Parts: sequence; structure tokens; C-alpha cells
Amino acid sequence: MTTALITGSTAGIGAAFARRLAAQGHNLVLVARDTKRLGEQATELHDRHGIEADVLVADLSTEAGITAVEQRLGDRTHPVDLLVNNAGFGNKGRYLEVSMADELTMLKVHIEAVLRLTSAATESMRSRGRGGVINVASVAAFVPRGTYGASKAWVVQFTQGAARDLSGSGVRLMALCPGFVRTEFHQRAGMGTDNIPGWMWLDADKLVATALADLARGKTVSIPDPRYKALMGVVKLTPRGLLGGMSSRTGRKYGPQ
Ligand SMILES: NC(=O)c1ccc[n+]([C@@H]2O[C@H](COP(=O)([O-])OP(=O)(O)OC[C@H]3O[C@@H](n4cnc5c(N)ncnc54)[C@H](OP(=O)(O)O)[C@@H]3O)[C@@H](O)[C@H]2O)c1
Repeated sequence: MTTALITGSTAGIGAAFARRLAAQGHNLVLVARDTKRLGEQATELHDRHGIEADVLVADLSTEAGITAVEQRLGDRTHPVDLLVNNAGFGNKGRYLEVSMADELTMLKVHIEAVLRLTSAATESMRSRGRGGVINVASVAAFVPRGTYGASKAWVVQFTQGAARDLSGSGVRLMALCPGFVRTEFHQRAGMGTDNIPGWMWLDADKLVATALADLARGKTVSIPDPRYKALMGVVKLTPRGLLGGMSSRTGRKYGPQ
């Protein structure tokens, strides 16, 4: 039996990864901040699928939280075969409307935690000659979309580079770049969603199924939907100035809904 560790497992995309991997018979290590929610999730997945689901309470915006997960990933007596770096969030407001403390918290979760956890996991995986890492980025990585998009662009670049460096080692790395997914993300970020057209919304369970298939196929970047693949094709051909205007109008209406 293999073990997968998922950060941000209790809601949205992370919860969809947990459901699918449990249904496939993988043991899980579930990571988030909400102890009660983690416990309920572990019990439900264990009871439904007969897998072992361990809980690791960790705030990935803190040194202690990152260290705790690093240590679990480095535990070679209980190896982790698949790491899903999924925990993430959006700040409420545009550039200069957000406090520097909140900007740095985002970089800690989206960049420092992803770098350190990927490194802890892949070091151990490389010595075993197998394993996988999925780093959840966003299509926002490909358009000028504030500090959130910039942090996700780092995730894509880092993952592609690390995948190249580890090619031939048996360890696969993939950046997952979803479009809009109905989760708790937008509400937590105080982000209005009224102006996002219905066709742009993705289903978290379908997204995860495609992501896992893409990892198995050896992709290093996954845009897990044909609509967004087409859109990103157009983005590549569109002048950056025009893109900035388009992306800042889509899903960036902040404040009470
Ligand atoms: N939803 C979208 O439209 C969308 C699109 C593209 C990319 N993404 C990316 O997908 C990932 C998952 O987002 P989602 O939409 O599923 O969001 P979500 O529904 O809000 O879930 C976020 C998860 O992350 C955990 N989390 C948040 N901050 C954390 C921290 N500091 N330490 C540990 N865990 C933390 C939350 O649990 P606790 O609060 O208990 O810690 C929760 O389990 C994020 O990286 C996001 O940037 C989302």
C-alpha cells in the first residue's frame, strides 16, 4: 500500500484529492490547521475505504508547521509516495491594498512551504527510486494577476525546473494549473464570483481525476480542462498589456458579495 500526504486536505481541491486517493486504496496523511475538521475527515475516509488516515495539524505559514510536515516527509520508516502541495489562499484586495504581513504569509505558504516540502519529499523519494509530487499552482500563473498569480508562476517554474533536474530518478513532479473551481477559496478571500461565467467553473473531483492521469502520463504541467487549455493557447498569443486588463476584471471583485 502506498501513502499520500495532502496539504490543505480538508476543503475544496485537497478534499477531492483525499477522496479519490482513499477510494484507490492509498493511505493518507492529512494536513491542515483545523484539528476537528481533520479528525472528522480521517474517520470518514477510514470508515468508507478501509485505509489508514493520519492527521497532521500544521499551519504552513509558520516555521513550526513547515518543520513538522518536513519531518514527516523525511521519515524513511514511513515513506510518503505522493505529496500534494495544495494548501493555499487568496488575500482580500489588490496590490498595495493588502498588508505586507499578509503578502509575506502568502509567500510562506505558496513558495517557502512548497519548496521545503517538495525538497524533503523528493530527497527521500529519490533514494527509493520512485515517487511523485503535485504542486497545485493555477492558470493565474500565466497572466498578470497580482501577487497571487506571481506566487503561482513561481510554483510552475520551480516544479518544471526540479522535474528536469530529477528526470531519470524515478521521481515525477507536476504543477497543476486549475482555472476557477467551486471551493471555499473565493469566500475565504472575500472575492465576488458573480462576474465569472458559468462555463469557467471546474468540478474539483473531475479536475483531480485528470491531474492524477496527467501525473501518470509524465506531464510536468497539467492544465486539466480543454476549455482552459484553449484559453491558455490564446493567452500565449495575446499582448501582456491586454491580458492584464482582462484578468483584472475576471473574479477580482473584492468585498462583500
Ligand atoms: N478554487 C479555485 O478556483 C482555485 C483555482 C486555481 C488554483 N487554486 C489553488 O488550489 C489550492 C486549493 O485551493 P481550494 O480552492 O481548494 O481552497 P479551499 O477550499 O479554501 O481549501 C484550502 C485548504 O487549505 C488549507 N489551508 C489554508 N491555509 C493553510 C495554512 N496556512 N496551513 C495549512 N493549511 C492551510 C485549508 O484548511 P485550514 O483552513 O483548516 O488550514 C483548506 O483545507 C490552493 O493552492 C489554490 O491557490 C484554487
